[in-house]
Amino acid sequence: MTADEQKKAAALAALEYVKPGNKVGLGTGSTANHFITALAEKAKAGLDVECVATSKATFELAKSLGLKITTLEKQPRLDITVDGTDEFDGKFQLIKGGGGALLLEKIVASSSRYMVVIADQSKQVETLGRFPLPVEVVPFGINATAWKIERALRILELKGKLVLRLKDGKPFVTDSGNAIIDVTIGAIPNPDQLSTYLSVIPGVVDHGLFVNLCGIILMGTDDGVKTFRKA
Ligand code: 5RP
Repeated sequence: MTADEQKKAAALAALEYVKPGNKVGLGTGSTANHFITALAEKAKAGLDVECVATSKATFELAKSLGLKITTLEKQPRLDITVDGTDEFDGKFQLIKGGGGALLLEKIVASSSRYMVVIADQSKQVETLGRFPLPVEVVPFGINATAWKIERALRILELKGKLVLRLKDGKPFVTDSGNAIIDVTIGAIPNPDQLSTYLSVIPGVVDHGLFVNLCGIILMGTDDGVKTFRKA
């Protein structure tokens, strides 16, 4: 099975968690797109759901497929969010934000009773950190924010290389108008602690560590979809 086939299998398996009448958070990325497409088919066949998108791209896709869209302003509590990930470990901790949608993804996931993560096998890791950690920052004073991120890493005895994310040669701009600094760390032994340190830096809007948010992971493999469920 290719990685994309594994993503699609996981996405289809996630449909079973969506119940009639559910308010559903829709993630961002290629795996989430498989889910959105499959959910739209189910909605056409009669499943009544209302969805909140985690990015402009997801909003456009969901709308084009005819899904009923709402907002967190109208529906501040959601039943379920289904989203992809860049990495997950055995403690249901994630690194997200490869697609740059981490801020809205975290707001939506944390507003949901369940976050179901869908992934191909390559996303499973022993220890988070192989994937560069996206940190969303306010453009104002970005270099000052960067040295504070470096200082936090030093205090935690982590080595990290900071790179400003670019798109077409210009700083990448998130849907909320911010920049992203990708921090290559290699291994993050204590994601919860790093999350706390990053969250209090002025100028850091959010970061891609998702801790205590996800309860179910569906991973596509050559032998079918494997389900990990938090006790
Ligand atoms: C976007 C994300 C995505 O979920 C993550 O990057 C995985 O992407 P894909 O499903 O395309 O592999 O966090 O911000």
